[in-house]
Amino acid sequence: MSYRQARWIEPLIFEKSRPGVIGYMPPSPDLKEREIVGDPYDFLPSGMRRRRPPALPELSEGEVVRHYIRLSQQSFGVDSGAYPLGSCTMKYNPKVCDEIVCSPKIRDLHPLQDESLTQGILEVLYHLSNLLAEVTGMSRFSLQPAAGAHAEFTGALIIRAYHKVNGEGGKRDEMLIPDSAHGTNPASAAMAGFKTVTIPTEDSGCIDVDAVESAVNEHTAGLMLTNPNTLGIFEREILEVSETIHSAGGLLYYDGANMNAILGKTRPLEMGFDIVHLNLHKTFATPHGGGGPGAGPVGVVKRLEEYLPVPLVAYDGSRYYLDYDRPLSVGKIRGFYGNIAVLLRAYAYIISMGVEGLEAASELAVLNANYVARKLHRNGSYIIPFYPDSLVKHECVVSAGKIYRETGVRAWDISKRLLDYGIHSPTTYFPQIVDEALMIEPTETESLESLDRLVEAMIKVAGEAYSNPDLVKGAPYSTSVRRVDEAKASHPQTMCLSWRMKRTADQTSRRP
Ligand SMILES: Cc1ncc(COP(=O)(O)O)c(C=O)c1O
Repeated sequence: MSYRQARWIEPLIFEKSRPGVIGYMPPSPDLKEREIVGDPYDFLPSGMRRRRPPALPELSEGEVVRHYIRLSQQSFGVDSGAYPLGSCTMKYNPKVCDEIVCSPKIRDLHPLQDESLTQGILEVLYHLSNLLAEVTGMSRFSLQPAAGAHAEFTGALIIRAYHKVNGEGGKRDEMLIPDSAHGTNPASAAMAGFKTVTIPTEDSGCIDVDAVESAVNEHTAGLMLTNPNTLGIFEREILEVSETIHSAGGLLYYDGANMNAILGKTRPLEMGFDIVHLNLHKTFATPHGGGGPGAGPVGVVKRLEEYLPVPLVAYDGSRYYLDYDRPLSVGKIRGFYGNIAVLLRAYAYIISMGVEGLEAASELAVLNANYVARKLHRNGSYIIPFYPDSLVKHECVVSAGKIYRETGVRAWDISKRLLDYGIHSPTTYFPQIVDEALMIEPTETESLESLDRLVEAMIKVAGEAYSNPDLVKGAPYSTSVRRVDEAKASHPQTMCLSWRMKRTADQTSRRP
């Protein structure tokens, strides 16, 4: 074992609060000219004043810093170790991108400032849209969606709007989605009002082209696909698939979660896609453990531009502005400009990497995934479906099915045991078409030594499953929180998402 997480007995910050303790005194407002006597905040209109102060915890600055440092020591992040969470692209995020976002020029901007005062940020956003268009081949981008799933929903709305304008709105109500797709794809399509039609995966690990051909008809609105797919395999027959969908009058949506595999190598446009989203928080330098914040810009080909959400960042030759004058737009899907900090990190990342840098990142990401796949395949403890017939791109999905059948140790036990070796769990039980799936995405930012440690730990845990299955089933041992009850943790009645919910739950459990 090579890893031990800190274990603090750390109360909630509200529990540490003591009335009257002060951490920071904001400067008094400069009120001399106003000649206000009495309460210095009297000048605030009464309707805008709180009746009582907000219930904030009261602590000194030092106590606050220690509290959060301790919490950070009790969690696992991409800055503390390898994080091969497949499909999530948890790569190391260069700190220079954070530095830019933290600059006061950015931090102190307010989205309600007049456009004449926000020309700088609008210019950056405009250029970012163009860079994303270049990376994907799309014609125009909206930077608004806050995540991949949000972008998929936006894309599905665009597909719906397109068919409606073409007089086929009511008729084209089926969205084709492969069985290897991320769960957000069918969920987003269904939210936008489509029926989903599941397309099976064939023996090569790719979408079954014959099944696509039989599924398309006059009700087909489109197809949602990620390429490479969630098995890490490139859909070699994508041109045939796109031809089939287009000739049936449908549109192709590219789920860009796996873009880290193909930067500078190929583009969704060349594969025949009409709409694309990019998870900036995966490929383009935003840390996203814990669920956010993210950004999922959506790009489209020329003929779909008019349906993009409003506002678009535009330039009239002398000034940048937010363009709301788009009558066919699907409307507004998020407040203000989008998640600016994430967008800016992506801009800084793309500029600092350059074309060659982005291409090299993808090459290395693919090389690293194949290195891991090859070593695990040779060892034989895990089965890698479709490998080596189909080489992988940026990630490989291994099956712990054989281990489970022979020892009773499941994929999630292995995932949790890896934490004891200082490695974050791979994505587990996804894609669902693989038995006891562990999806490993090493990314380009792991060194050769780190990849070797990952493979070694996986093989060691497989050995432990045979020699001491209970040890693996009881893992993790070295983390601040031992194994959690996952079913309970995701049950709405037991989840305490806020201090208020926790207080109510505590009071209820104390009642006789
Ligand atoms: C293949 C794929 N599609 C879509 C998504 C959804 O993206 P987000 O988590 O940003 O909503 C993910 C997220 O992991 C994914 O892996």
